[in-house]
Amino acid sequence: MRWRRWLLGLAALAAAGLLLGTIIVFGYLPRSAPPSPINVDRSAESIERGRYLAINVLQCVDCHSIRDWQLYGGPPIPPIGAGRPCMDRQTPTAGVNVGQEFFPGVLCIRNITPDKETGIGAWTDGEIIRAVREGVGRDGRGLFPIMPYFIYRDLADADVEAVVAFLRTLPPARSAQLPERVIEVPLNLLVRLWPQPVTQPVALPDPQSDRLAYGEYLARIARCEFCHSPRDPNSLKPFPGRRYSGGMPFFLGKQRVMYPLNLTPHATGLGSWTKAQFIARFRAHTEPQPVAPEHNTLMNWNAFAGMTDEDLGLLWDFFQTLPPVEYRREPL
Ligand code: HEC
Ligand code: HEC
Repeated sequence: MRWRRWLLGLAALAAAGLLLGTIIVFGYLPRSAPPSPINVDRSAESIERGRYLAINVLQCVDCHSIRDWQLYGGPPIPPIGAGRPCMDRQTPTAGVNVGQEFFPGVLCIRNITPDKETGIGAWTDGEIIRAVREGVGRDGRGLFPIMPYFIYRDLADADVEAVVAFLRTLPPARSAQLPERVIEVPLNLLVRLWPQPVTQPVALPDPQSDRLAYGEYLARIARCEFCHSPRDPNSLKPFPGRRYSGGMPFFLGKQRVMYPLNLTPHATGLGSWTKAQFIARFRAHTEPQPVAPEHNTLMNWNAFAGMTDEDLGLLWDFFQTLPPVEYRREPL
């Protein structure tokens, strides 16, 4: 009978597709390119730019350090960049979790100080740049996208090089040997599918002549866009037409739920603010204040409080150009 042959054919095709998919995912992914042979510029100017970016803008040290959740915004505890205890199935993720309390496996945010054995002292400049922008570790494995390489791929060449120059100046801190990474199915697919080489030079927008582009660049690399744009919690794809409109639930521990502000110029967002209020809102956190851990926040206020007036102003100017979108809270 004809239809039976059809069905068999279809089943064979599906099986072949699955096999091919598996071969591609596990044989050819992650996509990766060899690290660049670059030696980054280690001028005082570049190191200073890297310090500003790594500490005040990109949140490298916030993620790669133990944080003090007794203080508002959870500032990093020195030695900064020395890594933190791993996430796993048993340990609640240090109060900072987006919906999920336990990690399905073992994931460590490691030491990025220049210690040769427990840090990245033995990595080449190109290997660090590749990890940051392309999500490929020193051993060629894909990194789990809690490391926001899919955002940092937009970091300008000069900026990612400055971050490397700065990391090299951190005091080398020896940390405990951390366990190997384990990622359970199906999340293990992410470390194969998400990494992607950066194949073109990435230019830095000029903060003098192209102010809005520079503001947008900051909003992207500082992850304002990531946290403040409501998105599908599974695919992480932003909902169309609602960029920067806030309202996704963020969890701190079990009880505390918080919702990022609408940063568009709608009345339910920054529409009712002034530029001076916006800048002052950040400055208020220059000195971290004690707070009960259950009232803390996931917004990295301390880090951002160190941004310059100029940069906060450029962020504001960029937000003013966004289409106004009404604030809406996403369901829990
Ligand atoms: C939101 C948290 C977060 C931020 C912000 C972050 N990282 Fe990471 N980083 C991670 C996680 C998680 C991993 C581990 C990924 C894995 O092992 O699969 C990681 C891994 C790395 C690695 C690889 C370390 C190793 O030993 O394999 C380097 C290097 C690194 N990050 C550097 C940086 C730099 C530089 C920045 C700032 C530009 C940064 N990270 C910002 C979470 C973060
Ligand atoms: C890690 C996620 C995260 C990042 C990154 C982030 N925010 Fe937020 N933001 C939040 C959350 C959660 C809140 C609500 C809790 C709070 O007010 O602290 C918030 C609140 C705010 C508020 C409202 C404060 C108030 O008075 O109500 C402003 C303004 C703001 N963010 C601006 C920014 C800007 C600008 C950036 C980029 C420089 C940024 N955020 C990056 C998560 C984030």
